[in-house]
Amino acid sequence: MGPLTMHKVGVVGCGLMGSGIAEVCARAELDVVVIEVDTDALELGQSRVVGSLDRAVRAGKLEDAARDDVLSRIRFTTDFAELHDRTLVVEAVAEKEQLKVDVFSAIDAAVTSEDAVLASNTSSIPIMKLAAVTPQPQRVIGMHFFNPVPMLRLVELVPSLLTSPETVARAEAFCIGQLDKHIVHCKDRAGFVVNALLVPYLLAAIRMVESGFASAAEVDTGMIDGCNHPMGPLALCDLIGLDTIQFVAQSLYAEFKEPLYAPPSLLMRMVEAGLVGRKSGHGFFDYPAHK
Ligand SMILES: NC(=O)c1ccc[n+]([C@@H]2O[C@H](COP(=O)([O-])OP(=O)(O)OC[C@H]3O[C@@H](n4cnc5c(N)ncnc54)[C@H](O)[C@@H]3O)[C@@H](O)[C@H]2O)c1
Repeated sequence: MGPLTMHKVGVVGCGLMGSGIAEVCARAELDVVVIEVDTDALELGQSRVVGSLDRAVRAGKLEDAARDDVLSRIRFTTDFAELHDRTLVVEAVAEKEQLKVDVFSAIDAAVTSEDAVLASNTSSIPIMKLAAVTPQPQRVIGMHFFNPVPMLRLVELVPSLLTSPETVARAEAFCIGQLDKHIVHCKDRAGFVVNALLVPYLLAAIRMVESGFASAAEVDTGMIDGCNHPMGPLALCDLIGLDTIQFVAQSLYAEFKEPLYAPPSLLMRMVEAGLVGRKSGHGFFDYPAHK
């Protein structure tokens, strides 16, 4: 293990992203503690990790015994105090600023090592806002993974104005050397690189459906068959989660005041109705098996 290695990882929030981050860390032979808000969410998070590993076994990408080894490296708990000995904690709770601020304070209070790196998987909230609630902002960095984490190799690394070069170096070494990810460096601006480009495209697709210009299926077929995209924008909205897209759009709009980032009414109504995509079973399309 080199001097930059971070072997004890905490993941806070075990939804779509946290479960994937915990899985890739455990598959990289790291010791992982997963924190959830209550026991129901914890069980759901654990079943997400187990389900993903089972799919990898069925696809022939993981041995049965390796699956059990991976699971044995993850401890699931609701007790933030269990983060005390972590060298890296990745926060992956929902994209709500106040929630993240509160969770970041709790992580900072729980982690005892002054050298530990505190990372956020936020898609759009400025890292500086999270770093500002900790007494050591130099150890805070954005580490933005992509969904599904076990399949997509990119991580955007986002230092705030106060992140130390050492924290950046350790985060780079972690993502590249330990997780075998590709990284791009981004400035601390809402949306970073990928979402600043992707979200206006997704919102434009939603506006097309909202106006009756084309159906969700037609929009998606257009982009798959016309542009060779692997997935249409509305199926991608369902995969990401409409609630997450709404939060990200709101953050982008709050930062840049550009109409192209404003969440369309249809998106807000679908979120209010609980039609948030695959994770709820319904979004622009139906997913009976994902309920
Ligand atoms: N969904 C995506 O495609 C995607 C991609 C990249 C980044 N992100 C970002 O990742 C983060 C998480 O998104 P997600 O899609 O996994 O959301 P999600 O809603 O699937 O999961 C969030 C999890 O956080 C948990 N949580 C809430 N409050 C908590 C608390 N106080 N302590 C511990 N856990 C708590 C919830 O129970 C839930 O399981 C967001 O910042 C989002 O912007 C999402």
